[in-house]
Amino acid sequence: MSASHIPHHVAIIMDGNGRWAKSRLRPRTEGHRQGVEALNRVVEAAARAGIERLTVFAFSSENWRRPAAEVSMLMKLFAQALRRWCEPLAEAGVRLRVIGDRTAFSDTVREAIAENEAATAGGTKMELVIAANYGGRWDCSQAASECAAAGLEMTPENIGRFMSVPDVDLLIRTGGECRISNFLLWQSAYAEIYFTDALWPDFGEDDLKEALRWYEGRERRFGRTSEQLRNGG
Ligand code: FPP
Repeated sequence: MSASHIPHHVAIIMDGNGRWAKSRLRPRTEGHRQGVEALNRVVEAAARAGIERLTVFAFSSENWRRPAAEVSMLMKLFAQALRRWCEPLAEAGVRLRVIGDRTAFSDTVREAIAENEAATAGGTKMELVIAANYGGRWDCSQAASECAAAGLEMTPENIGRFMSVPDVDLLIRTGGECRISNFLLWQSAYAEIYFTDALWPDFGEDDLKEALRWYEGRERRFGRTSEQLRNGG
């Protein structure tokens, strides 16, 4: 695949952990554990493919509604993964950043985030963005507030500057559902959206490559016509 066809920014809704576990008569928590392993594989594969930024939906602002035991397990897993990944990410040149409202997290989670962000700050190969306690509407409203606080007129360009991440080129959702679930609403305005039935713990490098091949075949018109694109306009 030529470098010009590699999406700069790929975002993933990692769905299907619970179903993966259920189909094996295992607890949902095992599905999430395997989900972390899948994320590990995909981060390595994305960096190898030359993707500049990978944003993944780890915990939505709506996920607090899940059973308390599952929420607490997800938080534990999140903190553990952040600590475990400090060294390998730093070595691979991957810079980690967490987006979302951090105020609801425990000190342990906040410390793990800060440790990882500091350890990987020098990475230039790829940025891994973890959306945690994140919601697309929250992002729009925080960006609008920041824009107002900076005394700027509320134009799309100005608001866009304060969004947590830039526009998405390719949005992937695993697990068979076809919705955006309050993920990167603003940033997905012109994203190519790829839905796959694969459950997240089963997703790997081959699946990512298939999504990239599909993306390569899309014509990104951004409101223009095919003829305009062919004529370089
Ligand atoms: C959706 O599966 C997945 C989540 C709500 C959490 C995503 C989390 C991970 C992949 C692992 C944690 C990541 C980090 C960085 C710690 P689901 O439970 O909704 O699956 P289901 O639709 O089959 O029930």
